[in-house]
Amino acid sequence: MTLFNIRSPRKNQRFRRNFRNALPQTPAPEMPYSPMALTGEAVIDDIDHVESHLVALHTPAAFETEQYRMLAQRIEQMHKSHGLRVMAVSSPSMGDGKTTTVINLAGVLSQSPGMRVLLIETDLRCPCVSLLLGLDLPRPHNLVDAVVNPALALKDVVTWCAPFNFALLPGGPPIASHHELLASPRLGELIEEARQHYDCILIDTPPMVPFSDCRILSRWIDGFFVVVTAHKTPRRELQQALSTIDAHKIIGLIFNQDDHVAPSSYYADYYHAKSTRSR
Ligand SMILES: Nc1ncnc2c1ncn2[C@@H]1O[C@H](COP(=O)(O)OP(=O)(O)OP(=O)(O)O)[C@@H](O)[C@H]1O
Ligand SMILES: [Mg+2]
Repeated sequence: MTLFNIRSPRKNQRFRRNFRNALPQTPAPEMPYSPMALTGEAVIDDIDHVESHLVALHTPAAFETEQYRMLAQRIEQMHKSHGLRVMAVSSPSMGDGKTTTVINLAGVLSQSPGMRVLLIETDLRCPCVSLLLGLDLPRPHNLVDAVVNPALALKDVVTWCAPFNFALLPGGPPIASHHELLASPRLGELIEEARQHYDCILIDTPPMVPFSDCRILSRWIDGFFVVVTAHKTPRRELQQALSTIDAHKIIGLIFNQDDHVAPSSYYADYYHAKSTRSR
């Protein structure tokens, strides 16, 4: 199992202000690469409508984004070495940062040449990916529709998120019958179809301890990342969460909002001090 640390963007605001102009911006890919010809497209034309903690979309060159990028590199390695393709992001309880983490990961992974990324929202209790992305979805259909209506193919319900380089399958409005839907072989078929078209399929899920959704979903999933809120998630709750999934499916723990000083900020402070001295 691998451990990853993600610092809180809020703690880094002053730091970002100091460095925003000094850092080279990661160039956007020249042409968005859409792996499915008929994918609908939603254009996010105002970055201010995107939730501020989605740092990978706001500031690709920020140090927080770099932390997601390091995790993305490990995902790419695991994809190449072990064929991992369908990865869920979950956590023990509500509000640990699952959705923030999974969107940031989609943002950085999709910048990798040749990585075709699909984000699927399976949190049908509190679906909010589109909201966080500030997206006005052009398609009337979503995951729930595609499961209920087999006449809808994956390409009919996936939306390309421009200018970001990933595709989204939104969950749909909150529904009561989550369990039947998540256990449905039709969902398995849709994920199988996604495997043919995408290199990395990231799944946003509900929390593991209060709900059994992740256990039900796990049959379709290659591996889980478990987000832990640093200094908040009790050890017992984490153990409880891990016990809900087969141990071999847990890929790694992501320590979110871990605000101890990361080595990268030492470098940044060092370079900042140096550049101030040399003026
Ligand atoms: N690294 C971070 N630094 C600061 N705030 C964060 C970070 N990650 C998440 N947050 C904030 O924490 C709150 C919860 O995040 P998010 O919605 O991603 O959690 P979640 O685990 O998906 O919640 P839910 O269980 O309701 O689906 C949001 O306000 C988000 O902006
Ligand atoms: Mg969420």
